[in-house]
Amino acid sequence: MTKAIYPTEKFSAIQTPFYYYDLDVLRATVDEINLHASKTNFHVHYAMKANVNPSVLEVIKNAGLGADCVSGGEVEAAINAGISPSKVVFAGVGKADWEINLGLDNDIFCFNAESIPELEVINELAAAKGKIANVALRINPNVSANTHHYITTGLNENKFGINLSELDQVTDLFPTLANVKLIGIHFHIGSQITDMTSFQGLCVKVNEIQEHFSTRGIELQHVNVGGGLGINYEHPNHFPIPDFASYFKIFRDHLILQPHQTLHFELGRAVVAQCGSLISKVLYIKHGTSKKFAILDAGFTDLIRPALYQAYHRIENLNSELKMEAYDVVGPICESSDTFAKDYSMNETKRGDLIAIRSAGAYGEIMASQYNLRKLPKAYTSDQLK
Ligand code: LLP
Repeated sequence: MTKAIYPTEKFSAIQTPFYYYDLDVLRATVDEINLHASKTNFHVHYAMKANVNPSVLEVIKNAGLGADCVSGGEVEAAINAGISPSKVVFAGVGKADWEINLGLDNDIFCFNAESIPELEVINELAAAKGKIANVALRINPNVSANTHHYITTGLNENKFGINLSELDQVTDLFPTLANVKLIGIHFHIGSQITDMTSFQGLCVKVNEIQEHFSTRGIELQHVNVGGGLGINYEHPNHFPIPDFASYFKIFRDHLILQPHQTLHFELGRAVVAQCGSLISKVLYIKHGTSKKFAILDAGFTDLIRPALYQAYHRIENLNSELKMEAYDVVGPICESSDTFAKDYSMNETKRGDLIAIRSAGAYGEIMASQYNLRKLPKAYTSDQLK
Protein backbone atom coordinates (compact mmCIF):
# COMPACT_ATOMS: atom_id res chain seq x y z
CA MET A 1 0.00 0.00 0.00
CA THR A 2 1.45 3.37 -0.97
CA LYS A 3 1.27 5.91 1.79
CA ALA A 4 1.93 9.61 1.65
CA ILE A 5 5.08 10.95 3.25
CA TYR A 6 4.41 13.22 6.19
CA PRO A 7 6.66 14.85 8.79
CA THR A 8 5.19 12.52 11.43
CA GLU A 9 7.81 13.32 14.06
CA LYS A 10 6.84 17.00 13.82
CA PHE A 11 3.14 16.06 13.91
CA SER A 12 3.55 14.30 17.25
CA ALA A 13 4.34 17.64 18.93
CA ILE A 14 1.15 19.31 17.61
CA GLN A 15 -2.29 19.17 19.21
CA THR A 16 -4.65 17.15 17.02
CA PRO A 17 -6.89 17.39 15.09
CA PHE A 18 -5.38 19.80 12.59
CA TYR A 19 -5.21 20.39 8.87
CA TYR A 20 -1.93 19.87 7.11
CA TYR A 21 -1.33 21.47 3.72
CA ASP A 22 1.47 20.20 1.56
CA LEU A 23 2.33 23.39 -0.30
CA ASP A 24 4.67 21.56 -2.67
CA VAL A 25 1.68 19.58 -3.94
CA LEU A 26 -0.30 22.81 -4.25
CA ARG A 27 2.52 24.57 -6.10
CA ALA A 28 2.87 21.63 -8.50
CA THR A 29 -0.91 21.73 -9.06
CA VAL A 30 -1.10 25.43 -9.88
CA ASP A 31 1.97 25.10 -12.13
CA GLU A 32 0.17 22.37 -14.03
CA ILE A 33 -2.95 24.53 -14.34
CA ASN A 34 -0.90 27.43 -15.66
CA LEU A 35 0.98 25.19 -18.06
CA HIS A 36 -2.22 23.98 -19.71
CA ALA A 37 -4.41 27.05 -19.32
CA SER A 38 -1.84 29.48 -20.71
CA LYS A 39 -1.65 27.57 -24.00
CA THR A 40 -4.93 29.14 -25.07
CA ASN A 41 -5.24 32.11 -22.80
CA PHE A 42 -7.76 30.52 -20.45
CA HIS A 43 -8.39 32.44 -17.24
CA VAL A 44 -8.75 30.47 -14.03
CA HIS A 45 -10.49 32.05 -11.05
CA TYR A 46 -9.91 29.96 -7.96
CA ALA A 47 -13.21 29.16 -6.19
CA MET A 48 -12.56 30.65 -2.77
CA LYS A 49 -15.32 28.58 -1.20
CA ALA A 50 -13.07 25.53 -1.28
CA ASN A 51 -10.42 26.88 1.11
CA VAL A 52 -9.33 30.33 2.27
CA ASN A 53 -6.38 29.35 4.43
CA PRO A 54 -3.96 32.31 4.09
CA SER A 55 -0.94 30.14 3.16
CA VAL A 56 -2.99 28.38 0.51
CA LEU A 57 -4.24 31.70 -0.87
CA GLU A 58 -0.69 33.02 -0.98
CA VAL A 59 0.38 30.21 -3.33
CA ILE A 60 -2.70 30.74 -5.47
CA LYS A 61 -2.14 34.48 -5.67
CA ASN A 62 1.53 34.01 -6.55
CA ALA A 63 0.49 31.69 -9.36
CA GLY A 64 -1.57 34.53 -10.80
CA LEU A 65 -4.99 32.92 -10.52
CA GLY A 66 -8.05 35.10 -10.06
CA ALA A 67 -10.81 34.50 -7.53
CA ASP A 68 -14.37 33.25 -7.77
CA CYS A 69 -16.33 34.53 -4.78
CA VAL A 70 -19.81 33.84 -3.49
CA SER A 71 -20.01 36.26 -0.58
CA GLY A 72 -18.78 39.64 0.55
CA GLY A 73 -16.51 37.82 2.98
CA GLU A 74 -14.86 35.96 0.12
CA VAL A 75 -14.48 39.14 -1.95
CA GLU A 76 -12.71 40.74 1.03
CA ALA A 77 -10.55 37.66 1.61
CA ALA A 78 -9.50 37.57 -2.05
CA ILE A 79 -8.57 41.24 -2.11
CA ASN A 80 -6.81 41.02 1.28
CA ALA A 81 -4.80 38.10 -0.06
CA GLY A 82 -3.55 40.39 -2.82
CA ILE A 83 -5.64 39.04 -5.68
CA SER A 84 -6.43 41.93 -7.99
CA PRO A 85 -10.13 42.96 -8.03
CA SER A 86 -9.80 42.94 -11.80
CA LYS A 87 -9.61 39.13 -11.53
CA VAL A 88 -12.52 38.72 -9.09
CA VAL A 89 -15.85 37.28 -10.20
CA PHE A 90 -18.75 37.34 -7.78
CA ALA A 91 -21.54 34.74 -8.02
CA GLY A 92 -24.37 33.66 -5.74
CA VAL A 93 -28.17 33.57 -5.83
CA GLY A 94 -28.58 35.83 -2.82
CA LYS A 95 -26.19 38.75 -2.90
CA ALA A 96 -27.06 41.26 -0.18
CA ASP A 97 -26.91 44.99 -0.97
CA TRP A 98 -23.74 45.50 1.09
CA GLU A 99 -22.08 42.69 -0.83
CA ILE A 100 -22.99 44.20 -4.19
CA ASN A 101 -21.76 47.59 -2.96
CA LEU A 102 -18.48 46.01 -1.86
CA GLY A 103 -18.02 44.61 -5.34
CA LEU A 104 -18.84 47.96 -6.91
CA ASP A 105 -16.53 49.90 -4.59
CA ASN A 106 -13.66 47.59 -5.49
CA ASP A 107 -14.43 47.61 -9.22
CA ILE A 108 -14.43 43.84 -9.43
CA PHE A 109 -14.16 42.25 -12.84
CA CYS A 110 -17.69 40.86 -13.01
CA PHE A 111 -20.89 39.99 -11.17
CA ASN A 112 -22.34 36.67 -12.17
CA ALA A 113 -26.02 37.59 -11.95
CA GLU A 114 -28.48 34.84 -11.26
CA SER A 115 -31.97 36.41 -11.61
CA ILE A 116 -33.90 39.36 -13.01
CA PRO A 117 -34.53 40.95 -9.60
CA GLU A 118 -30.82 40.75 -8.85
CA LEU A 119 -29.97 42.47 -12.14
CA GLU A 120 -32.36 45.26 -11.23
CA VAL A 121 -30.78 45.73 -7.80
CA ILE A 122 -27.22 45.73 -9.22
CA ASN A 123 -28.37 48.36 -11.72
CA GLU A 124 -29.91 50.50 -8.98
CA LEU A 125 -26.90 50.28 -6.64
CA ALA A 126 -24.45 50.97 -9.46
CA ALA A 127 -26.52 53.98 -10.54
CA ALA A 128 -26.36 55.36 -6.99
CA LYS A 129 -22.57 55.28 -7.24
CA GLY A 130 -22.45 56.56 -10.78
CA LYS A 131 -20.82 53.32 -11.91
CA ILE A 132 -21.43 50.72 -14.56
CA ALA A 133 -21.32 47.15 -13.26
CA ASN A 134 -19.95 44.42 -15.48
CA VAL A 135 -22.33 41.50 -15.46
CA ALA A 136 -22.28 37.96 -16.78
CA LEU A 137 -25.57 36.12 -16.85
CA ARG A 138 -25.52 32.84 -15.03
CA ILE A 139 -27.53 30.57 -17.26
CA ASN A 140 -28.81 27.22 -16.24
CA PRO A 141 -27.86 24.97 -19.16
CA ASN A 142 -29.86 21.95 -17.97
CA VAL A 143 -26.89 19.62 -18.28
CA SER A 144 -26.49 16.72 -15.88
CA ALA A 145 -23.21 16.58 -14.02
CA ASN A 146 -23.59 12.91 -13.07
CA THR A 147 -22.44 13.62 -9.54
CA HIS A 148 -23.96 13.63 -6.05
CA HIS A 149 -27.39 15.34 -6.14
CA TYR A 150 -26.37 17.79 -3.40
CA ILE A 151 -23.62 19.17 -5.61
CA THR A 152 -25.46 19.14 -8.95
CA THR A 153 -26.37 22.68 -9.89
CA GLY A 154 -27.01 22.85 -13.63
CA LEU A 155 -30.44 21.21 -13.92
CA ASN A 156 -33.67 23.17 -14.47
CA GLU A 157 -35.08 22.50 -11.02
CA ASN A 158 -32.01 23.97 -9.26
CA LYS A 159 -32.26 27.35 -7.58
CA PHE A 160 -29.21 28.60 -9.50
CA GLY A 161 -29.08 30.72 -12.61
CA ILE A 162 -31.50 31.92 -15.23
CA ASN A 163 -33.47 29.23 -17.04
CA LEU A 164 -33.22 28.92 -20.80
CA SER A 165 -36.94 29.70 -21.06
CA GLU A 166 -36.32 33.13 -19.49
CA LEU A 167 -33.44 34.05 -21.76
CA ASP A 168 -35.43 36.24 -24.16
CA GLN A 169 -37.02 38.15 -21.32
CA VAL A 170 -33.63 38.83 -19.71
CA THR A 171 -32.00 39.78 -22.99
CA ASP A 172 -34.76 42.32 -23.64
CA LEU A 173 -34.25 43.81 -20.19
CA PHE A 174 -30.63 44.86 -20.72
CA PRO A 175 -31.20 47.93 -22.90
CA THR A 176 -33.38 49.31 -20.06
CA LEU A 177 -30.64 48.89 -17.45
CA ALA A 178 -28.28 51.84 -17.95
CA ASN A 179 -25.83 50.89 -15.16
CA VAL A 180 -25.10 47.29 -15.98
CA LYS A 181 -23.08 46.09 -18.91
CA LEU A 182 -23.57 42.56 -20.17
CA ILE A 183 -20.05 41.28 -20.76
CA GLY A 184 -20.55 37.55 -20.75
CA ILE A 185 -22.34 34.38 -19.85
CA HIS A 186 -21.64 32.07 -16.95
CA PHE A 187 -22.37 28.41 -16.24
CA HIS A 188 -21.63 25.89 -13.52
CA ILE A 189 -23.11 22.42 -13.67
CA GLY A 190 -21.88 20.82 -10.47
CA SER A 191 -18.91 19.64 -8.52
CA GLN A 192 -16.69 16.53 -8.28
CA ILE A 193 -17.38 15.74 -11.92
CA THR A 194 -15.23 12.88 -13.13
CA ASP A 195 -17.23 11.99 -16.22
CA MET A 196 -15.72 14.27 -18.85
CA THR A 197 -18.70 13.83 -21.16
CA SER A 198 -20.63 16.13 -18.79
CA PHE A 199 -18.27 18.97 -19.72
CA GLN A 200 -18.64 18.01 -23.38
CA GLY A 201 -22.42 18.29 -22.93
CA LEU A 202 -21.91 21.70 -21.39
CA CYS A 203 -19.89 22.84 -24.41
CA VAL A 204 -22.67 21.79 -26.77
CA LYS A 205 -25.21 23.77 -24.73
CA VAL A 206 -22.95 26.84 -24.49
CA ASN A 207 -22.52 26.82 -28.27
CA GLU A 208 -26.31 26.86 -28.69
CA ILE A 209 -26.71 29.66 -26.17
CA GLN A 210 -23.98 31.68 -27.89
CA GLU A 211 -26.11 31.44 -31.04
CA HIS A 212 -29.01 32.95 -29.15
CA PHE A 213 -26.97 36.05 -28.42
CA SER A 214 -25.23 36.37 -31.77
CA THR A 215 -28.50 36.09 -33.71
CA ARG A 216 -29.73 39.03 -31.63
CA GLY A 217 -26.60 41.01 -32.45
CA ILE A 218 -25.32 40.89 -28.86
CA GLU A 219 -21.56 40.60 -28.53
CA LEU A 220 -20.28 38.80 -25.48
CA GLN A 221 -16.64 39.20 -24.54
CA HIS A 222 -16.47 36.44 -21.96
CA VAL A 223 -17.63 32.91 -21.45
CA ASN A 224 -17.28 31.41 -17.98
CA VAL A 225 -17.82 27.68 -17.68
CA GLY A 226 -17.56 27.48 -13.89
CA GLY A 227 -15.71 24.75 -12.06
CA GLY A 228 -16.48 21.20 -11.14
CA LEU A 229 -13.46 19.16 -12.20
CA GLY A 230 -13.32 16.18 -9.84
CA ILE A 231 -10.36 14.62 -8.11
CA ASN A 232 -9.37 11.06 -7.30
CA TYR A 233 -10.40 10.49 -3.68
CA GLU A 234 -9.56 6.76 -3.88
CA HIS A 235 -5.92 7.17 -4.91
CA PRO A 236 -4.53 10.53 -3.79
CA ASN A 237 -0.99 9.14 -3.76
CA HIS A 238 -1.16 7.98 -7.36
CA PHE A 239 -3.14 10.93 -8.69
CA PRO A 240 -2.15 13.95 -6.60
CA ILE A 241 -2.72 16.31 -9.55
CA PRO A 242 -5.95 16.21 -11.56
CA ASP A 243 -5.80 15.71 -15.30
CA PHE A 244 -5.95 19.38 -16.29
CA ALA A 245 -4.60 18.65 -19.77
CA SER A 246 -7.65 16.53 -20.70
CA TYR A 247 -10.03 18.89 -18.93
CA PHE A 248 -8.90 22.01 -20.79
CA LYS A 249 -8.70 20.04 -24.03
CA ILE A 250 -12.44 19.27 -23.84
CA PHE A 251 -13.18 22.99 -23.96
CA ARG A 252 -10.54 23.67 -26.58
CA ASP A 253 -12.01 20.94 -28.80
CA HIS A 254 -15.73 21.42 -28.25
CA LEU A 255 -16.40 25.04 -27.42
CA ILE A 256 -16.83 27.44 -30.30
CA LEU A 257 -15.47 30.82 -29.26
CA GLN A 258 -15.36 34.00 -31.28
CA PRO A 259 -11.81 35.27 -31.82
CA HIS A 260 -12.35 38.14 -29.38
CA GLN A 261 -13.81 35.97 -26.60
CA THR A 262 -11.95 34.81 -23.52
CA LEU A 263 -12.79 31.67 -21.60
CA HIS A 264 -12.95 31.63 -17.82
CA PHE A 265 -12.98 28.80 -15.29
CA GLU A 266 -13.82 28.66 -11.61
CA LEU A 267 -11.95 25.68 -10.24
CA GLY A 268 -11.97 24.99 -6.52
CA ARG A 269 -11.66 21.37 -5.51
CA ALA A 270 -9.25 20.43 -8.31
CA VAL A 271 -6.84 23.13 -7.13
CA VAL A 272 -6.69 22.46 -3.40
CA ALA A 273 -8.22 19.10 -2.44
CA GLN A 274 -5.17 16.90 -2.77
CA CYS A 275 -2.76 19.16 -0.90
CA GLY A 276 -4.73 18.90 2.35
CA SER A 277 -5.11 16.22 5.00
CA LEU A 278 -6.91 16.21 8.29
CA ILE A 279 -4.53 14.81 10.87
CA SER A 280 -6.14 13.18 13.87
CA LYS A 281 -5.21 10.91 16.76
CA VAL A 282 -6.87 7.66 17.76
CA LEU A 283 -8.44 8.08 21.18
CA TYR A 284 -9.79 4.59 21.68
CA ILE A 285 -10.24 1.27 19.96
CA LYS A 286 -13.62 0.00 21.01
CA HIS A 287 -14.72 -3.56 20.38
CA GLY A 288 -18.37 -3.96 19.38
CA THR A 289 -20.04 -7.35 19.08
CA SER A 290 -18.91 -7.94 15.53
CA LYS A 291 -16.76 -4.93 14.64
CA LYS A 292 -14.07 -2.63 15.91
CA PHE A 293 -14.41 1.12 16.16
CA ALA A 294 -11.43 3.41 15.82
CA ILE A 295 -12.58 6.50 17.70
CA LEU A 296 -10.71 9.60 16.53
CA ASP A 297 -10.33 13.02 18.10
CA ALA A 298 -11.55 14.52 14.79
CA GLY A 299 -15.24 14.55 13.98
CA PHE A 300 -17.66 15.96 11.47
CA THR A 301 -17.11 19.38 12.97
CA ASP A 302 -13.62 19.19 11.43
CA LEU A 303 -14.54 17.50 8.15
CA ILE A 304 -18.22 17.22 7.33
CA ARG A 305 -18.06 15.73 3.84
CA PRO A 306 -18.49 12.05 4.84
CA ALA A 307 -21.49 12.87 7.08
CA LEU A 308 -23.11 15.32 4.68
CA TYR A 309 -22.48 13.78 1.28
CA GLN A 310 -21.54 10.19 2.17
CA ALA A 311 -18.21 11.22 0.68
CA TYR A 312 -15.29 8.82 0.60
CA HIS A 313 -11.94 9.99 1.93
CA ARG A 314 -8.94 7.72 2.05
CA ILE A 315 -7.72 7.12 5.60
CA GLU A 316 -4.15 6.18 6.50
CA ASN A 317 -2.60 5.19 9.81
CA LEU A 318 0.72 7.05 9.84
CA ASN A 319 2.24 5.01 12.67
CA SER A 320 1.40 1.45 11.79
CA GLU A 321 2.68 -1.01 9.21
CA LEU A 322 0.90 -3.93 10.89
CA LYS A 323 -1.56 -6.20 9.11
CA MET A 324 -4.76 -4.75 7.65
CA GLU A 325 -7.84 -4.83 9.85
CA ALA A 326 -11.40 -3.53 9.38
CA TYR A 327 -12.61 -0.59 11.46
CA ASP A 328 -15.51 1.76 11.60
CA VAL A 329 -13.63 5.04 11.78
CA VAL A 330 -15.71 7.44 13.84
CA GLY A 331 -15.49 10.78 15.61
CA PRO A 332 -16.40 11.86 19.14
CA ILE A 333 -19.53 13.86 18.29
CA CYS A 334 -22.87 12.79 19.74
CA GLU A 335 -24.47 11.79 16.44
CA SER A 336 -24.31 8.49 14.57
CA SER A 337 -23.55 10.33 11.35
CA ASP A 338 -20.18 11.26 12.85
CA THR A 339 -18.57 8.44 10.91
CA PHE A 340 -15.70 8.86 8.47
CA ALA A 341 -15.86 5.33 7.08
CA LYS A 342 -17.46 1.99 7.81
CA ASP A 343 -15.71 -1.36 7.62
CA TYR A 344 -12.56 0.42 6.50
CA SER A 345 -9.35 -1.48 6.00
CA MET A 346 -6.40 0.10 7.84
CA ASN A 347 -3.14 -1.10 9.30
CA GLU A 348 -3.81 -2.45 12.79
CA THR A 349 -4.46 0.59 14.92
CA LYS A 350 -3.99 1.43 18.59
CA ARG A 351 -4.66 4.37 20.88
CA GLY A 352 -2.35 7.29 20.11
CA ASP A 353 -1.75 6.46 16.43
CA LEU A 354 -1.84 9.38 14.03
CA ILE A 355 -4.41 9.13 11.27
CA ALA A 356 -4.43 11.11 8.02
CA ILE A 357 -7.76 11.68 6.33
CA ARG A 358 -6.74 12.46 2.80
CA SER A 359 -7.89 14.80 0.02
CA ALA A 360 -9.32 17.18 2.60
CA GLY A 361 -7.90 20.42 1.22
CA ALA A 362 -11.18 21.39 -0.42
CA TYR A 363 -14.39 21.94 1.55
CA GLY A 364 -12.67 20.72 4.71
CA GLU A 365 -11.33 23.40 7.03
CA ILE A 366 -13.71 25.99 5.58
CA MET A 367 -16.79 23.91 6.44
CA ALA A 368 -15.69 23.25 10.02
CA SER A 369 -18.12 24.13 12.82
CA GLN A 370 -18.11 24.42 16.56
CA TYR A 371 -21.00 22.07 17.20
CA ASN A 372 -20.68 20.47 20.65
CA LEU A 373 -18.58 23.55 21.42
CA ARG A 374 -15.59 21.91 19.85
CA LYS A 375 -12.56 23.96 18.92
CA LEU A 376 -12.09 24.83 15.27
CA PRO A 377 -9.17 22.88 13.79
CA LYS A 378 -5.89 24.73 13.31
CA ALA A 379 -3.82 24.39 10.16
CA TYR A 380 -0.11 23.92 9.44
CA THR A 381 1.79 23.82 6.17
CA SER A 382 4.72 21.80 4.90
CA ASP A 383 6.72 25.04 4.69
CA GLN A 384 6.17 25.66 8.41
CA LEU A 385 7.08 22.12 9.43
CA LYS A 386 10.21 21.80 7.27
N1 LLP B 1 -18.42 28.03 -9.40
C1 LLP B 1 -19.63 27.95 -8.83
C2 LLP B 1 -20.69 28.85 -9.29
C3 LLP B 1 -19.88 27.01 -7.81
O1 LLP B 1 -21.08 26.93 -7.27
C4 LLP B 1 -18.83 26.14 -7.39
C5 LLP B 1 -19.03 25.17 -6.32
C6 LLP B 1 -17.57 26.28 -8.01
C7 LLP B 1 -17.41 27.22 -9.02
C8 LLP B 1 -16.39 25.43 -7.64
O2 LLP B 1 -16.64 24.08 -7.89
P1 LLP B 1 -15.46 23.01 -7.79
O3 LLP B 1 -14.43 23.30 -8.87
O4 LLP B 1 -14.87 23.09 -6.43
O5 LLP B 1 -16.15 21.70 -8.01
N2 LLP B 1 -19.15 21.38 -0.38
C9 LLP B 1 -19.27 20.48 -1.51
C10 LLP B 1 -18.98 21.18 -2.82
C11 LLP B 1 -19.92 22.32 -3.10
C12 LLP B 1 -19.60 23.04 -4.39
C13 LLP B 1 -20.44 24.24 -4.56
N3 LLP B 1 -20.15 25.03 -5.72
C14 LLP B 1 -18.32 19.32 -1.28
O6 LLP B 1 -17.68 19.24 -0.24
O7 LLP B 1 -18.24 18.40 -2.13
